[in-house]
Amino acid sequence: MSDQQRPGDRADAFVFTPRKNGQSQSVSDELATWMSTGWADTELRDLDPIEQAPHTARRRAVLSAAFPGERLVVPAGQLVTRSNDTEYPFRAATDYVYLSGDTADGGCLVLTPDADGGHEALLYLKPRSDRENGEFWLGQYGELWTGRRNSLQEASVLFGVPTADVRTLPEDLRAGTATLRVVRGHDEEVDALVDEVRGDTGTEARAKSARLDEELRVELDDHRLVKDEWEVAQLQRAVDATVRGFNDVVAALPQAQDTSERFVEGTFFLRARVEGNDVGYGTIAASGANATTLHWTRNDGPVREGDLLLLDAGVETTTLYTADVTRTMPVSGTFTELQRKVYDLVYAAQEAGIAAVAPGRSFGDFHKASQRVLAEGLVEWGLLEGPVERVLELGLQRRYTLHGTGHMLGLDVHDCAAARQEAHLYGELEPGMVLTVEPGLYFQPDDLTVPEELRGTGARIEDDVLVTGEGRTVMSAGLPRSSAEVEAWLAERLPHP
Ligand code: GLY
Ligand code: MN
Ligand code: MN
Repeated sequence: MSDQQRPGDRADAFVFTPRKNGQSQSVSDELATWMSTGWADTELRDLDPIEQAPHTARRRAVLSAAFPGERLVVPAGQLVTRSNDTEYPFRAATDYVYLSGDTADGGCLVLTPDADGGHEALLYLKPRSDRENGEFWLGQYGELWTGRRNSLQEASVLFGVPTADVRTLPEDLRAGTATLRVVRGHDEEVDALVDEVRGDTGTEARAKSARLDEELRVELDDHRLVKDEWEVAQLQRAVDATVRGFNDVVAALPQAQDTSERFVEGTFFLRARVEGNDVGYGTIAASGANATTLHWTRNDGPVREGDLLLLDAGVETTTLYTADVTRTMPVSGTFTELQRKVYDLVYAAQEAGIAAVAPGRSFGDFHKASQRVLAEGLVEWGLLEGPVERVLELGLQRRYTLHGTGHMLGLDVHDCAAARQEAHLYGELEPGMVLTVEPGLYFQPDDLTVPEELRGTGARIEDDVLVTGEGRTVMSAGLPRSSAEVEAWLAERLPHP
């Protein structure tokens, strides 16, 4: 612990902070002394670098070139309390993972300008727990409780970046003179530290700093728009695992009818976990009228024969790339005439959307193509008054289509949301971009503008699509899409009585 330590420094935060349950109060000197000795040296394991190390190095070089002479601070984020002394499962900040490959909590990547006009990267990390001062078994983040961390030397080999003890981050940042930018919003302590070092007092200075930080965020989201080969392979792994999860859910549908939508959610999650993965967002398992609630994650409703089940779920790999897939299926195995009519219109809209995904097409095209098909159908059914051009111009179809037709996909499920509009929303698709195409129709149960028999019906079909040099690849093509294919899938996999 350095002499320069100040209240609030992270040196306080994880070195010998007694566990919150107060166990440290009852430790005898004899036990404390005994616990500090008799341990083998386990500081260094023989580790190989992570396979994405060349990619993270290239990404850091691109970032370096964008901000010559400036110091860039990219934190991983901290654990967040769930209740009392338990924490939410940790998920590292996307830009930190993208630039370092590390997925642990509490770290911070800093790119410092060097004499050659580039930057030196230094990865500040929590070191191993100190056994001599008792931190390893009495401290809040002691390894005896939370598990062995990489030693700084090991981490340096793993990530291909020099490492430092994160307790030295405050004094290192305070000692620098270069303009600072931070990826804000992930680690309050780091944000406060950067603010302190900048010494912004006035409103104008603070506004300027906020702009600097926002520019860094935008730049990083721009970089992440086009995926490299390694990232595409990770996304394909996530999608393939997701396909297996959907197949599991179909086989378990009859049991879900005995409990609730949570059986569906749990079945999908089981597949994610047994393969060593996680989910990239809260699974939406929405049966019947719940399918008309876009972010239905309570998943506590019944699954009934005769309902449509909308399942929107995605496996996230250990490298934190996520799939995002939706299928809508009749619980009984067969669509009713009305359900098929709704589903087939959504399917036609998705077909039109997928066909509009190609290099050089504008990002908005697939959305427009899908919305046109939906608007045409809604006018034909008499739900909207034509002509279709007027409906589209005024956006009237959105009462029933509700959301945009897709988004970028990657480390974040809604990836690259901060990217420059001219590169993203008003930009052109490029090979290596991955996006979802996910039109839907939602007739709310209390919507008096639709015929009674349609109320409470919702359907969405969502696939993950890679833009290629020639056109597109539907990465989630392992799952059926048309109503006939969905019924055949259910007939094959639903257990027969
Ligand atoms: N799962 C959220 C979405 O489809 O955008
Ligand atoms: Mn989704
Ligand atoms: Mn989506």
